[in-house]
Amino acid sequence: MRAAVIVPAAGQGRRMGSLPKAFLPLAGRPVIAHALEALLHDDRVTQAVIAIDAAQAADPPPWLTQLDPRVCIVAGGQERTGSVRNALATVASDIDVVLIHDAARPLVSRALVKRALDEAGAGRSVTAAIPVADTVHEVGEDGRVVATPDRSRLWRAQTPQAFPHSVLRDAYARAAARDVEATDDAALVARFGVPVFVIEGEPRNLKITVPDDLRLARAWLQNGT
Ligand code: C5P
Repeated sequence: MRAAVIVPAAGQGRRMGSLPKAFLPLAGRPVIAHALEALLHDDRVTQAVIAIDAAQAADPPPWLTQLDPRVCIVAGGQERTGSVRNALATVASDIDVVLIHDAARPLVSRALVKRALDEAGAGRSVTAAIPVADTVHEVGEDGRVVATPDRSRLWRAQTPQAFPHSVLRDAYARAAARDVEATDDAALVARFGVPVFVIEGEPRNLKITVPDDLRLARAWLQNGT
């Protein structure tokens, strides 16, 4: 089995200050370097396509281009979907499985990457997710609670998300034809009627969104727990 990983890293992360959040320092390395270590560990991965800010892609940081021969860089889009679409366009045609992982999730484990690749290799589309602990309300524009879905059926999506290559390619082709955007590739694929299954994610696999997330990730790494 041959797998490609797509790493969307073109988000500006306005809540984190000036530097794109994937490139903020975490325990001596950029956030994305932690994620790439887990992703590139699996030797079924033959290609790693990283979508970075278009200006940065014209002159990518040498440490990134020299990190591993499997790495290639593409310019990201305005939205995450655009970044994934650009990366998908450079995935080689002989790739069986595509795994997508946010650059902003540095603490993903090798085991979770392996599990996602195993599932997609067996023909199943999967997303890492964890059951919600809190009650979730749907709230109207006036601040009124309009619905409270059954908590026992709600899961918070994470990445990695992994798909047979043909499934993801078809979903993106159909989405482009209908001008559909999605914040999440599992949702995009499921929207076209393809079953997508959850695999148990990891609480540590947080997405760096606000400065406190970086502090938490740093503390976890320091404690080694
Ligand atoms: O901010 P958000 O939750 O959308 O970020 C998730 C991941 O998608 C991050 O790794 C971010 O760098 C990436 N992204 C991207 N292109 C965008 C927006 C976000 O690659 N236009």
